[in-house]
Amino acid sequence: TQATQTSPVVQVNGGGQSLTANMLPVTKRNPRDYIFGKVIGEGSYSTVYLAKDIHTNREHAIKVCEKQQIIREKKREQVRREKDALNILSNSGSSFFVKLYCTFQDAERLYFVMSYAKNGDLLPYINKVGSFDAACTRFYSGEILRALEHLHDLNIMHRDLKPENILLDHNMHIKVADFGCSKILEQPDAVEKPILNENNPRQRSNSFVGTAQYVSPELLTEKTISPSSDLWALGCIIYQMIAGLPPFRSRSEYMLFKKILNLDYVYPDGFNADAKDLVQKLLVLDPNERLGTKDDQRYTSIRSHPFYNGLDFDTLHLTNPPPIY
Ligand code: ADE
Repeated sequence: TQATQTSPVVQVNGGGQSLTANMLPVTKRNPRDYIFGKVIGEGSYSTVYLAKDIHTNREHAIKVCEKQQIIREKKREQVRREKDALNILSNSGSSFFVKLYCTFQDAERLYFVMSYAKNGDLLPYINKVGSFDAACTRFYSGEILRALEHLHDLNIMHRDLKPENILLDHNMHIKVADFGCSKILEQPDAVEKPILNENNPRQRSNSFVGTAQYVSPELLTEKTISPSSDLWALGCIIYQMIAGLPPFRSRSEYMLFKKILNLDYVYPDGFNADAKDLVQKLLVLDPNERLGTKDDQRYTSIRSHPFYNGLDFDTLHLTNPPPIY
């Protein structure tokens, strides 16, 4: 049994009674241990609340999932994926991810107690300023790259990377969230159903879990999955930070998928030349040819791209983020 750093009497995994290292009894938490406040996020089967731990006075984001809805919407697998990935990441010592402190349930609901990212998600920041300057783009995409290095080193793919899932903590450092679409790779290049129905390309197969605008071409058509799909999403996000909008946009999902598969997008005038070269090397149709896919552990070839000249990736989490104007 493990206890969290902040409260020695909180049990992270499992149930029942046991003892922590300092011999304090451990009990499973329950909703009465928290004061629930405002809603800070909503999904199809879950609501995220800001909540205060009555024992520690610490703020948390608590994701509350309705069991009935999970079963009705056949989202059991998604909930399991999120819990498994968050558990692995929470024990891995990286600051770039939302941490799962504990989970519990009552008759109707499941509760995920996570770290609260006070400054919300990245999307409103991009939308507010229209576009990030080079320093901001370098910094924030650099932190996302560090998060991906860590994730992929643990054989986890996020599969739904987008600005809405990049949260910002009180210091404006990133915390990647929402692992409901993630996949823990037992063996690299695992086989899965493609998103597009082979018989009817206008129809999604039921395996589609990600968000259309950032989805990679191979997730649409092929059966193999690899961490490279997150690098495609990174390319889309870098583009969006600079251009203000994601590269592939369409009112209809069918047209959007067509654009992605045809690499049909343009760079607006004045797009930073180094960033353009980097995005072009990430938005490559063949997942094996994307910049970084042949690297091991660290994405050295991305780190050493001219766009990141002079950026110290190893100390990003310790530096003051550049202000977003
Ligand atoms: N919305 C969803 N999850 C969140 C979190 N952990 N912190 C802040 N806002 C969120």
